[in-house]
Amino acid sequence: MVPVPNRRLYTGALMPALGLGTFGSDRVSPAEIAEAVKGAAAVGYRHFDCASVYGNENAIGHTLQELIAGGIPREDLWITSKLWNDKHAENDVISSCRRSLADLQLNYLDMYLVHWPFPNYHPPHCDVESRSPNARPYIHENFMRTWRKMEELVDLGLTRHIGTSNMTIPKLKLLLRDARIKPAVNEMELHPHFQQPELFEYVRAHGIEPIGYCPVGSPGRPERDRKPEDTVDIEDPVIVRIAERHGVHPASLCVKWAVQRGQTPIPFSIHHYRANLEAVLGDPLTDEEMREIAGIDRNCRLIKGQVFLWKANQTWEDLWDPNGEIPA
Ligand SMILES: NC(=O)c1ccc[n+]([C@@H]2O[C@H](COP(=O)([O-])OP(=O)(O)OC[C@H]3O[C@@H](n4cnc5c(N)ncnc54)[C@H](OP(=O)(O)O)[C@@H]3O)[C@@H](O)[C@H]2O)c1
Repeated sequence: MVPVPNRRLYTGALMPALGLGTFGSDRVSPAEIAEAVKGAAAVGYRHFDCASVYGNENAIGHTLQELIAGGIPREDLWITSKLWNDKHAENDVISSCRRSLADLQLNYLDMYLVHWPFPNYHPPHCDVESRSPNARPYIHENFMRTWRKMEELVDLGLTRHIGTSNMTIPKLKLLLRDARIKPAVNEMELHPHFQQPELFEYVRAHGIEPIGYCPVGSPGRPERDRKPEDTVDIEDPVIVRIAERHGVHPASLCVKWAVQRGQTPIPFSIHHYRANLEAVLGDPLTDEEMREIAGIDRNCRLIKGQVFLWKANQTWEDLWDPNGEIPA
């Protein structure tokens, strides 16, 4: 077992630069994921990316309890959870965090994120065409009401840090202007075919660590998140060739590249978590290899977020503030 490298957050806290995702994409059971958390901890993972909407915090909580009872100090673990979209109301934020803490069998979280900036509820497993009749656009004043309660969670000691997910530069600008406690991380989709260079540089320039989700290009994502135009990172000839050179699977190469680029990837895996960690710890990629991978960005967003659209005749691009503006 070897230590995973760390990122230092603006608070001075150290966060492991590789985490394990825990969203089972509607096909991997809570028990299997809880088992993967246990196995991953045994080989050296300490960072686990959880969320209430993944429907498995209770099962993961049993594993965390076992790990702590088995001798891993709580302070060596980095546990993230997330506020789901139907819990943005002021009265719901603290109770949602407490629910996750109870499920995870913890007294505090290391990170609590607002999962999406939209308060639009949609039921689990719903089709991407499904729309909530109460759907709203991003309304900054409303988001700030939620954020004030997120700040209160830090004051109450229920989480050490707060952060955002699925944000854009225009939304982050407003939040940074108005926050008392600024986000320590922004969780965002990041993989070789979707590098988001502008947002990536923006968050880092503002002392916010980028957490990269779908780092392998989410080959197991649910059908509803698949479009014919989506590209496949792990079949890209550049990824395949560099992976061969380093003797790792193309998926592990994506994870390795992510850590070396400066983001914190959180690959989901029930079978390959050890290989991904070993790849991260192996010989670094050369500058030329890093340049080659920088050159294969296809701007291919996989998690488009269609269910959050709030009016007719919109496209998913509207969710991501095209032209630097937040559509009303
Ligand atoms: N904040 C958000 O809105 C948001 C959105 C999406 C995801 N997330 C988080 O990000 C995590 C990761 O995203 P994701 O699960 O969609 O995609 P991902 O991590 O890119 O892909 C996971 C898939 O890749 C496979 N895989 C991983 N390493 C491999 C290897 N070395 N060789 C072969 N296959 C490998 C896994 O298979 P095996 O299980 O068989 O190993 C699994 O099917 C989620 O679990 C969740 O925690 C957050």
